[in-house]
Amino acid sequence: MAQMEMQDHPAAHHDGAEMMPDAMIGPAGARQASANAMPRTADQALAAKIAENRVTSISDFLGRLHPVAAHFPIALLLLAALGELLLTIRPALGLETTVRFLISGGAAGALTAALLGWFAAGWRLEDRSETLGLHRWNGTAIAAVALVATWLAFRARNRTPLRIVLAVLAVALVLQGYLGGEMVFGPNHLGLE
Ligand code: HEM
Repeated sequence: MAQMEMQDHPAAHHDGAEMMPDAMIGPAGARQASANAMPRTADQALAAKIAENRVTSISDFLGRLHPVAAHFPIALLLLAALGELLLTIRPALGLETTVRFLISGGAAGALTAALLGWFAAGWRLEDRSETLGLHRWNGTAIAAVALVATWLAFRARNRTPLRIVLAVLAVALVLQGYLGGEMVFGPNHLGLE
C-alpha cells in the first residue's frame, strides 16, 4: 500500500521549519535551542503544547474539524449498504425508509467531510504524498457518488442501480478510512505488514 511521504504530511499544521532561528541550525545549536525551549514542568509542557496547537486562520480551524466529520459518512453509508443487503435477502423487513434516511444523512456527512478535508489538505490538485492524493480524490468521489445514491434512493423504481452504487461506496469508504488512518497514525497502522 502507498506510503505517506513525511515532507507532505497533511497533519503538520504547524510546520515552522522556515521560521527556525539560525541558532537552531547544526547539532550544537539544536541542542542549545532544545535546552532553552525544553519545558521544565508538566504545566509548562502543557502550556507549550496548547500554544503550539493554536489556530492560525479560519481555514486552519475548518481543516481541523475534518476528523470529527469523517466518521459520519463512514458509519451512515456502511449501515445503509447493510440495510439494503438485508432488504435484498428479506424484502418483508420494510427497511426502505430507513435506508433512505441513512443515505441522505450519509451523503450530507460525505459532502461536509470532503469539504473540510480540502481545508485540511490544502486547495491543490496534486500531492507529493501518494496516500494523500488517493485519499483526496477517493473522498471527493465518495461525496459525488453519495449524492447519486440519494437521488436513486428517492427517485428510482428499480433498486438494482442503488444496490450497485451502495456496494461501490462501501468499498470506497473502507479504503478511505484506511488511508485516513495511514495518514494520522502512520504507515502500517493496522500492523498487518
Ligand atoms: C467522504 C469523504 C472522506 C472521509 C470519509 C474521510 C475520512 C478520513 C478519516 C477517517 C481520517 C482519519 C481521521 C482520524 O482518525 O483522526 C481522515 C484524515 C484526513 N483526511 Fe479525510 N476523508 C474524506 C475526504 C477527504 C478529502 C476530500 C480530503 C482532502 C481533500 C481529506 C483529507 C484528509 C486529511 C488531510 C487527513 C489527515 C488528518 C487531518 O489533517 O485532518 N479527506 N479522513
